[in-house]
Amino acid sequence: MEANTCLNVALVGYGYWGPKLTRNIRESSNFKLKILVDKKQSLLHEFKFSNPEVEISNELELALADDSVNCVVIASPPNTHFEIAQKALLAGKHVLVEKPFTSSFKEASTLVDLAKEKGLCLMVDYTFLYNGTIESIKKQIKKEAFGELLYIDSVRINLGIFQNDVNVVFDLACHDLSIFNYLLEELPLSVQAVGIDGLGNGLENIAYVYLKYKQRFAHINCSWSSPVKIRKMLIGGSKRAILYNDIEPTDKIKVYDKGVVFQESKERDAALQDYRMGEVYIPKYDTTEPLQKVVSSFYHAIVKKQASNSDGQDALIVMFMLEMIQKSINLKGKEIQIEWEQVGPSLYSYIMSKGMLKEPF
Ligand SMILES: NC(=O)c1ccc[n+]([C@@H]2O[C@H](COP(=O)([O-])OP(=O)(O)OC[C@H]3O[C@@H](n4cnc5c(N)ncnc54)[C@H](O)[C@@H]3O)[C@@H](O)[C@H]2O)c1
Repeated sequence: MEANTCLNVALVGYGYWGPKLTRNIRESSNFKLKILVDKKQSLLHEFKFSNPEVEISNELELALADDSVNCVVIASPPNTHFEIAQKALLAGKHVLVEKPFTSSFKEASTLVDLAKEKGLCLMVDYTFLYNGTIESIKKQIKKEAFGELLYIDSVRINLGIFQNDVNVVFDLACHDLSIFNYLLEELPLSVQAVGIDGLGNGLENIAYVYLKYKQRFAHINCSWSSPVKIRKMLIGGSKRAILYNDIEPTDKIKVYDKGVVFQESKERDAALQDYRMGEVYIPKYDTTEPLQKVVSSFYHAIVKKQASNSDGQDALIVMFMLEMIQKSINLKGKEIQIEWEQVGPSLYSYIMSKGMLKEPF
């Protein structure tokens, strides 16, 4: 496909997130929104009223039968992703699907194989991987001044919508897992998780997840039941620590030159403990709307075959982690050793080629 080609899009799902994707697609000169698909007629008619040039339909098949449609963007609920994405790929369309990709690793794996077989682009919207804050944090942790990254502690809680097809881990913690994989370029060796199913419908609304890496740890507290919205990540290094507060309107990242220093003591058996009270530094970051970059990456993935930050295979790794977390929750917090070979030969060789597995503990 030639550069500067304008691609026609069918967007599926116009609830909360669909309009944000729609706006970014329409603001991009690389895409044209050709058709909007939603199950709800009222939403479609309301949209058509102010956007008469866009076709509307409550039948996905109509959009898929249109040869001028090059790609399908899916922003419907997670339990619909697999069927819609599979149909779209079979119809020869490139696919951008919302997180958390699908409801299971098996479904996601089927889609990755299908996209590969058809030579089509399959990308998942893990929006934070296109956020200037995360990009900036990645630069900070790579600096010698940061030292060795020792731990990440993430809190992603709010009084959220109780989803009725996935639990809070699949809905919220999937963001953290995608961020951890992107920042650390390393995969965990085991996971332990507990969850509370407040409604008794089999879907946890609060969960605590603990991931163990070769020489570091990560923890996620995710909840739809918190009276306050908190989006904080503390990233601790041996020399510096970063506090990322996504709720702040500006200065979302602070790098602290603070820590404990231990010194050998000849007079005492125990080491002497001292505090390093250095400066706090606020790094700059790109404030471009992340969804704008998601849309642009999707275009470059299709037209220039450029790898995005969240290709199907990267998102498949997250799906596997989500399933391991669920397994631990179901076993009441049992530590699950993650056997990465189980992801299958193709994904395993992708993981190994990226050097994401270090030797075990
Ligand atoms: N990347 C992010 O940060 C982010 C943020 C919020 C939501 N999301 C994701 O976006 C997706 C949608 O979430 P939402 O909050 O907008 O949901 P929503 O319930 O507000 O909207 C979903 C829309 O899809 C429509 N729909 C349902 N089934 C359909 C089908 N089979 N065919 C066509 N349309 C159908 C519904 O009528 C509704 O209008 C989810 O996967 C969610 O996880 C991502």
